[in-house]
Amino acid sequence: MKHFEYLLVAAATMAGLVALVVPAPGRADGEPAPFVTEIPQGYRDFRWISSTHEAGKLNSLGALLGNDVAFNAFREGKLPFPDGTILAALHYRYVPSDENNKIFGQVQSFVPGAPTNIQFMVKDSTKYAATGGWGFGHFADGKHGDAAFMKSCFPCHEKAKATDLVFTRYAP
Ligand code: HEC
Repeated sequence: MKHFEYLLVAAATMAGLVALVVPAPGRADGEPAPFVTEIPQGYRDFRWISSTHEAGKLNSLGALLGNDVAFNAFREGKLPFPDGTILAALHYRYVPSDENNKIFGQVQSFVPGAPTNIQFMVKDSTKYAATGGWGFGHFADGKHGDAAFMKSCFPCHEKAKATDLVFTRYAP
């Protein structure tokens, strides 16, 4: 084999090895990691855990709700979150309320505007083993994010490893 070809084969082998060693979130067999493709039932009746306001381009107002398993784990500071935990982050535009501001006589009241998306994290350590035991879900207008988009969730949430991939703290 010519030297050049040998190098190519070596490089390809190395790349293959790297791909095997560093599965970028996905399963060992190369299939994309599963994510949440259906809106969990009854999420609007979940209990409130905390709220966030993202300024800048997002300009978003969010409420984090959790089912009973999630809520109790937050309240008791239980980590990792048990299987069956469902977190629902409801996101809205952050808009001034003309109605309220008229009463106050100045602009100081902001409320949820149009909904933008709902994001979910569902704990199932078997089904979602490739993404830290969490299934990520993103829905806008009732449609879920595509597989390419859903790849972004886990690598960033992994930064919250110390709290089982969850950033939000229980609001007292
Ligand atoms: C660049 C980093 C980053 C990416 C990418 C990201 N998130 Fe998050 N996510 C955060 C941070 C930081 C918070 C807490 C602040 C907030 O809620 O705005 C958060 C909060 C959440 C929450 C509330 C629970 C928690 O961890 O606090 C859910 C649910 C969620 N994200 C789902 C998703 C989904 C689904 C995706 C992919 C479509 C995604 N996130 C992509 C950083 C990220």
